[in-house]
Amino acid sequence: MILETIVTTLGADGTPHIAPFGVTREGEDLVIAPFRPSVTLAALEATGRAVVNLTDDARLFAGCLTGRRDWPLVPATAIAGVRLADSLAHWEVEVVRIEDDPVRPRFHCRSVHEEAHRPFAGHNRAAAAVIEAAILCSRLHMLPWEKVEREMAYLTIAVEKTAGPREREAWGWLSDRVAAFRAEMRSPDGTKPQVLS
Ligand SMILES: Cc1cc2nc3c(=O)[nH]c(=O)nc-3n(C[C@H](O)[C@H](O)[C@H](O)COP(=O)(O)O)c2cc1C
Repeated sequence: MILETIVTTLGADGTPHIAPFGVTREGEDLVIAPFRPSVTLAALEATGRAVVNLTDDARLFAGCLTGRRDWPLVPATAIAGVRLADSLAHWEVEVVRIEDDPVRPRFHCRSVHEEAHRPFAGHNRAAAAVIEAAILCSRLHMLPWEKVEREMAYLTIAVEKTAGPREREAWGWLSDRVAAFRAEMRSPDGTKPQVLS
């Protein structure tokens, strides 16, 4: 099973970094699989540590994908690392094995410390739609434009029906990003769209 999480790391120079990652449970292992190049990947290689944060605030996913990475962090408890100041729970993990790969290495991690902070307050379709749209936004440069438009239109239904203020704000950020990408695609100088995330 893959859990959509926010992974926080410290770089070799101690700089904190925050990024959404799908984390796979494989037996006792939690596997983080970043595509190269990645700041998270470099941090995992340099320090062998990370924090996997569980959150119901979809703004974290949309924010990181649209350049809003300035979320409050606090020190981790058992490892040299940082975690989200506001999350449902977090797992402090250490890398136990690396399956190396030129495209997407897999970092097998084990949890060394876990904390629960708040109870899960229930599923929300708009929050799930925001996470789907954030994934779309991370792949805009690879996807056919018709697919992006079709999926954004479908996901809008859940947002319009079920969103609260956090989900609406996150949706606005992602919609703006998609619109900016579209404008760039249509730019008269005919340049190829650039990767925006
Ligand atoms: C829900 C979600 C899951 C993601 N999972 C992955 C993943 O498993 N691997 C990956 O390389 N990028 C993933 N991404 C995209 C990364 O978050 C994004 O590209 C990020 O900037 C990673 O690069 P960085 O470590 O340099 O920040 C995901 C994005 C979202 C919204």
